[in-house]
Amino acid sequence: MKTLLITRPIADAVIAQARDLFDVTVLETGAMDEAAAGQALQDYDAILPTLGDAFTANAFAAAGENPRCKMLGNFGVGYNHIDVAAAKQAGVQVSNTPDVLTDATADIAMTLLLATARRAGEGERFVRSGQWGGFSPKGQLGTHVTGKTVGIIGMGRIGQAIARRCHFGFGMQVVFFNRSAKSVDFPATQMPTLNDTMSAADFVVVATPGGAATTHLIDAAAIGAMKPSGIFVNISRGEVVDEPALIAALQAGLIAGAGLDVYENEPHVPDDLKALEQCVLLPHLGSATFETRQAMGQMALDNIIAWSKGDVPPQLV
Ligand code: GLV
Ligand code: GLV
Repeated sequence: MKTLLITRPIADAVIAQARDLFDVTVLETGAMDEAAAGQALQDYDAILPTLGDAFTANAFAAAGENPRCKMLGNFGVGYNHIDVAAAKQAGVQVSNTPDVLTDATADIAMTLLLATARRAGEGERFVRSGQWGGFSPKGQLGTHVTGKTVGIIGMGRIGQAIARRCHFGFGMQVVFFNRSAKSVDFPATQMPTLNDTMSAADFVVVATPGGAATTHLIDAAAIGAMKPSGIFVNISRGEVVDEPALIAALQAGLIAGAGLDVYENEPHVPDDLKALEQCVLLPHLGSATFETRQAMGQMALDNIIAWSKGDVPPQLV
């Protein structure tokens, strides 16, 4: 029986199925650092890792030229925590879990967009603290959402799902920035540059992949291009945004608010960000529904099963 390391507890049914097919170890110790990842590459035939597990170039270097592990079936669509080039060099295949989390992640983007625009985080704190004195015609006024313009940064699967919600659900105009030309089957305008998109939008939603190609794509200049009334939402990866630049812009009132599900150095959330009432801060909940996490586990395992049979994993990256 091949050995399989599952780096975090996932859905029981998926683990049970894995145990029928592999000699399974499930870790309950949290994210793996580079040293642990390098050791795991030497100790197991296959690994089912997830976000935060540091399968970096150093981890692969520590595991040597021909590690025992030949398959990383990642739990998650984003794989910026895995050095795919180093994996390839070491003969390790990598798969991910696209599609199954698109709707859940688009829903969390709408949650953040609406909650930030309508000051729902502040309102929640207000009620719980016992300070609410009743309906007030001018109290806690937020920004109207319906009919406004959304700017989507990265029009991939998740970006399109967000755009559809904005267009069909909220009658919004959609503008977007995407590195390659992209045609979509609903009204949306591809803008020539990132900053054109930032400045045209009332709401900016970042939905790019993470990784080296997009690190700090959203810098001080891009944030500065936004309207002062603009609201910024990020559901992709924290590293896409220059976090200190975002905080400075919020502190200076250059933009009106931010809704964030991801951070540059998770799980660290800067105190300066927590101090800003106009921010809604979620703990990376994009894919966190029972249904989606079950489907992600099943897809990650199905890829590992395909590999174990000598087939090409269907979601090879
Ligand atoms: C979650 O962030 C994922 O990449 O699946
Ligand atoms: C608000 O609650 C209203 O009745 O207009």
